[in-house]
Amino acid sequence: AYKAHPLHLSHIIPLDFSSALSLPDSHAWPHCQPNDDASSSSSSSSIPIIDLMDPNAMDLIGHACEKWGAFQLKNHGIPFGVIEDVEEEAKRLFALPTEQKLKALRSPGGATGYGRARISPFFPKFMWHEGFTIIGSPSHDAKKIWPNDYARFCDLMENYEKQMKVLADRLTEMIFNLMDISEEKRKWVGASNISEAVQLNFYPSCPEPNRAMGLAPHTDTSLFTILHQSQITGLQIFKEGKGWVPVHPHPNTLVVHTGDLLHIISNARFRCALHRVTVNRTWERYSVAYFYSPPMDYVVSPLVHSVARFRDVTVKEYIGIKAKNFGEALSFIST
Ligand code: SIN
Ligand code: FE2
Repeated sequence: AYKAHPLHLSHIIPLDFSSALSLPDSHAWPHCQPNDDASSSSSSSSIPIIDLMDPNAMDLIGHACEKWGAFQLKNHGIPFGVIEDVEEEAKRLFALPTEQKLKALRSPGGATGYGRARISPFFPKFMWHEGFTIIGSPSHDAKKIWPNDYARFCDLMENYEKQMKVLADRLTEMIFNLMDISEEKRKWVGASNISEAVQLNFYPSCPEPNRAMGLAPHTDTSLFTILHQSQITGLQIFKEGKGWVPVHPHPNTLVVHTGDLLHIISNARFRCALHRVTVNRTWERYSVAYFYSPPMDYVVSPLVHSVARFRDVTVKEYIGIKAKNFGEALSFIST
C-alpha cells in the first residue's frame, strides 16, 4: 500500500473545481461509496461530546481518547467570533480565481502555502479538496495572494493560532495529569517553541460524491489536532466493529483528534483515530485544523511503567518517517 509517487507538480496543484461539471477519472475512486457507508452505520453511536467546564472533563477526555481517539468539545473558551472570522477568511481565500491562489502554491517538498493535501502522493487518485497551510507567520504566503491587503488575514490567523495553543496546552496538562507524567517531561507545555500549524481546508460541492473522496483516510502527525468544521457533515472516524462513523457538526463545538505522538507517548493507550472526509453534491464544506506537537527536538517516548511498544524518536524524526512512510510510520518505530 502507501508507496509514494514521485513528487510531481500534479500532486500539488489542485483541480480548478469551479469548472468541473463532471467527475474526472483522476478523481474517481474505485470501491468508494463513502456516503452510503455513513448512512448504514448505526446513528446511535458517535464520538463523545465533552463539556470542558464539566468537573469530570479530565476523565471523560481520557476515556474518549482510549475508546475513540477523538471527541467533540464544548465550552472550550475560544470566542465564537474568533472562529467565525477565520472561517470567513478561508472562504475569501478559496473563492479567489485559481491564478490568484496559484501565486502562493506550495513548493515541491515544501510545507506552507496553497495546494493539494500533502498525503496526495500516497494515493492513486486525487481528492476533492484544496488546502492552505500556515507554519509560523502567514505573511509570506498571504502577501503573494493579497499584496496590498494581507494584514487582516494574518492578524486573524495569528490570533486564532494563539488561542488554540492555550486550549491545546490545557488539554495536554489534563491528559498528562491523567498519565502521571513527570514535571521534567512536560516542561515544554506552555512554552513558545512548540511545533504548531494551521491548515485551512475547502471541499467544493461535487457532481458525483459517492465516487469522490474529500480527504483520504489518515491519522494526524501531532499530539492533538483541534478542528473547527463548518456546519456541513463530511468528517468520518473509523471505529472497529462500526466502520466509518460520521462526526456531525454542532454549533460552538470543536473536534479534537488524538494524534500519532500521543499514541506513542501513551504506549498505545490512547488511539490515534483513522479519519477521512466525504463530500456532497450540494454544499461546500470548510474546516480549520490546528496541529499541536512538542518542540521538534523533544524525544517522544512511551511514558509508562510497562514495556515500551515504541522506540524513542524526536518529533522531527517522526515527521520525517511519516512523510516517507505514510501509514506505516508507527510500525517503523514499534519495538
Ligand atoms: C483533516 O483531517 O485534517 C481535516 C478534517 C476535516 O476537514 O474535517
Ligand atoms: Fe486529519
